[in-house]
Amino acid sequence: MKVLSLAFLTVGICLLETSIAASTTRAFTSNNRRQTANASSEVLEVVQAQVPPRTSYANPACKQTVFNHVFANSYGIPYVGTYGPPKNCNFTTTIFNLSVTSSGAQYDRLALLFFDDIEIWRTSTAMPGGYDIHFEYQKDMSVFDTLMRGEHKVIFDLSNVYSGVYTGAFNVTIEALYYNDRYENFEPADEIYPISALASSQNISSVMSLPDDNGTVSLTLKRNVKTAVVSLLASGNSAEEFWYTNVPSEYVNTFPSNPGWLYGYSPFREVELLIDGKLAGVSWPFPLLFTGGVDPGIWRPIAGIEAYDLPTFEIDVTPWLPLLCDGAAHTFGLKVVGFDNSVEGKVGTVGENWWVTGNVFVWLDEAGNQTTGSIIESHLPTPAFSYHPQVVTTTSSNGTVSNSSFYFSLSAHRSLSISSTIHTSSGSRSVAWTQELDFLNIQNMTGLAYNQSLAMSSTGSWTSSLSAEKSTYSYPLNLFSAYVIAETSATLSSVYTLIDRSLIQKIINTLPYLTGTSVGVEDLATRQNASSMYYWNATIVQGTDADTGTTQQWLSYSGEPGIKGGNGVKDFSRKLEEVDDLWTMDESAFSTIDVPATVALPLVEGEPIV
Ligand SMILES: *[C@@H]1O[C@H](CO)[C@@H](O)[C@H](O)[C@H]1NC(C)=O
Ligand SMILES: *[C@@H]1O[C@H](CO)[C@@H](O)[C@H](O)[C@H]1NC(C)=O
Ligand SMILES: *[C@@H]1O[C@H](CO)[C@@H](O)[C@H](O)[C@H]1NC(C)=O
Ligand SMILES: *[C@@H]1O[C@H](CO)[C@@H](O)[C@H](O)[C@H]1NC(C)=O
Ligand SMILES: *[C@@H]1O[C@H](CO)[C@@H](O)[C@H](O)[C@H]1NC(C)=O
Ligand SMILES: *[C@@H]1O[C@H](CO)[C@@H](O)[C@H](O)[C@H]1NC(C)=O
Ligand SMILES: *[C@@H]1O[C@H](CO)[C@@H](O)[C@H](O)[C@H]1NC(C)=O
Ligand SMILES: *[C@@H]1O[C@H](CO)[C@@H](O)[C@H](O)[C@H]1NC(C)=O
Ligand SMILES: *[C@@H]1O[C@H](CO)[C@@H](O)[C@H](O)[C@H]1NC(C)=O
Ligand SMILES: *[C@@H]1O[C@H](CO)[C@@H](O)[C@H](O)[C@H]1NC(C)=O
Ligand SMILES: *[C@@H]1O[C@H](CO)[C@@H](O)[C@H](O)[C@H]1NC(C)=O
Ligand SMILES: *[C@@H]1O[C@H](CO)[C@@H](O)[C@H](O)[C@H]1NC(C)=O
Repeated sequence: MKVLSLAFLTVGICLLETSIAASTTRAFTSNNRRQTANASSEVLEVVQAQVPPRTSYANPACKQTVFNHVFANSYGIPYVGTYGPPKNCNFTTTIFNLSVTSSGAQYDRLALLFFDDIEIWRTSTAMPGGYDIHFEYQKDMSVFDTLMRGEHKVIFDLSNVYSGVYTGAFNVTIEALYYNDRYENFEPADEIYPISALASSQNISSVMSLPDDNGTVSLTLKRNVKTAVVSLLASGNSAEEFWYTNVPSEYVNTFPSNPGWLYGYSPFREVELLIDGKLAGVSWPFPLLFTGGVDPGIWRPIAGIEAYDLPTFEIDVTPWLPLLCDGAAHTFGLKVVGFDNSVEGKVGTVGENWWVTGNVFVWLDEAGNQTTGSIIESHLPTPAFSYHPQVVTTTSSNGTVSNSSFYFSLSAHRSLSISSTIHTSSGSRSVAWTQELDFLNIQNMTGLAYNQSLAMSSTGSWTSSLSAEKSTYSYPLNLFSAYVIAETSATLSSVYTLIDRSLIQKIINTLPYLTGTSVGVEDLATRQNASSMYYWNATIVQGTDADTGTTQQWLSYSGEPGIKGGNGVKDFSRKLEEVDDLWTMDESAFSTIDVPATVALPLVEGEPIV
């Protein structure tokens, strides 16, 4: 799974590959064109199934282009511009419409949008894959309302490599659509503070790279805060892109004749929020697969879950207000840890690297002077792990012993709770943040780990005093990949891949809930099931004509929108299917559907994981 770690290639690796000339592009044949859902279109629409932020985009109160920019040779050179609020326009809701075109040959790239030092959207691109492609995504920015009403430096970092075989540039437009909607109660955060590298004055992205960067900022909040939430954004790059397929460090050299194939630090990752060095909450991240992930053939034209809008995780830090409202500076730090069997406590550092930022959303107690409160009570037992590795050896006829397969299971459990009583102008209230998290990762690999199978389950829940409802999530992931890596660049390499995975959540979506754009539980289930055969060599970045495969996706949502007047989405569903890169189904409706459950895959040789 390491060969196609495409999204975050360093310049160094790319330069190695650029010595080979000429790109290949593949147009639809007339035969193919008959099968496409959009028969008249030469441009392939690459879709990340999303819940639309509203039922109709008609009749915005106003709109403006935030920027349009072509990212060609843009490695380390972000777009820098300015944002100003629309003039003479009364609005509540702000929707950003991201629209991107590309052609030629190119990998998938990560892209980060900042307003000053505050990251407001992390996305990734589709791969042009020899087709001309277009993709778009609409994101409700209303939780950032206070930013939408001021002037800001816009920094959009899409580090692309554009030379040699990499002939695809990305033409990116973000348009802002403003609507004057009526809400039962629209109360966006009063202030937003960044937990970031604070580098916008240098015209660069403020993302922090862990484990090397400090990950910590010092912030002084106002004294009269009534609610505070930290929103975390963390994604793995390079050796950490497929963190959930990594192995415990002591096993990275299990197959010495395939050096460098396995990455270490285990498949367990915890993103931690620390306030003044003390744990305030954690995220056990969703296993992202970008459009070049494992097997790029799988992800066109159906992109991976959350690929265009990387998920945030919110931690209610209201119980910390007795401390944070004292008028002094406090540190907010982000850290990423993995399982390490060799140390006390079993948690240690991770590989390179994790890109992280956070935002502190603050609601003020307008009538209050200073929020005070009780001592902050914390119950933070360390995570409990269960770990069972097993190496099977074979002895050849001349007596040489070698490892033929490596199996392990790693499970983790954690619970935490933090509570206090706070006093604001409206009186005293008890506030608490609790989390329960469970993780199980089973892998078995054979054939020098070129064949790798994974069964993972990550589930959890949280509660906060913001709502009586408990939020729950589940991320099952089953993945089998069998690589054949060619000995010479003239021969094609291949990967055969099976994936079945889901994102299932029934949550109080903290920021929209506090803002008033969502007033109840949001119930989302989406599943992707794919099988694919993909061929490439050093010249063919985007796969060959021999690629075959099929991907199916189901998505079903129901929620309680805060908008009055019919534009809010209560129910939504979409069913997608592609065969050999061509659309065979795209159905959507403002009603729910049944999403079948993810099923286990064979664990290497026909034995399903129970
Ligand atoms: C087909 O084209 C229409 C209009 O360009 C676009 O809205 C739609 O998403 C496309 N559908 C697919 C499946 O490509
Ligand atoms: C915005 O709302 C205010 C107050 O209701 C009103 O006076 C003004 O005319 C509105 N502006 C526009 C452009 O609609
Ligand atoms: C988003 O932008 C694209 C490109 O301009 C456009 O085709 C599409 O209609 C826009 N979508 C919305 C919801 O405005
Ligand atoms: C990029 O896209 C914009 C908006 O669709 C278009 O006006 C512009 O011509 C495109 N630029 C290039 C170089 O294709
Ligand atoms: C940042 O970019 C702006 C706009 O392009 C430019 O005016 C300014 O000089 C740049 N600042 C630095 C430190 O490079
Ligand atoms: C990290 O940054 C914080 C806040 O600026 C500072 O207090 C701390 O000393 C720094 N730690 C290291 C190891 O540099
Ligand atoms: C077998 O795997 C173990 C564990 O990774 C490793 O220490 C050992 O060197 C391997 N043996 C051979 C012969 O490759
Ligand atoms: C805030 O301070 C002012 C001036 O000292 C005082 O009159 C008022 O009662 C205080 N309000 C609260 C809620 O403590
Ligand atoms: C023993 O046999 C194995 C597998 O056939 C071969 O790779 C290895 O080189 C042989 N070792 C010796 C010492 O002959
Ligand atoms: C690897 O997987 C492929 C495809 O399923 C299979 O044909 C092959 O026998 C497997 N090899 C090993 C060593 O398990
Ligand atoms: C990759 O394969 C294509 C088609 O088989 C071939 O034309 C090209 O020369 C190969 N690339 C290299 C570097 O050998
Ligand atoms: C791992 O795969 C090997 C090779 O297929 C098999 O012999 C072994 O039983 C598997 N281990 C487990 C625990 O399933």
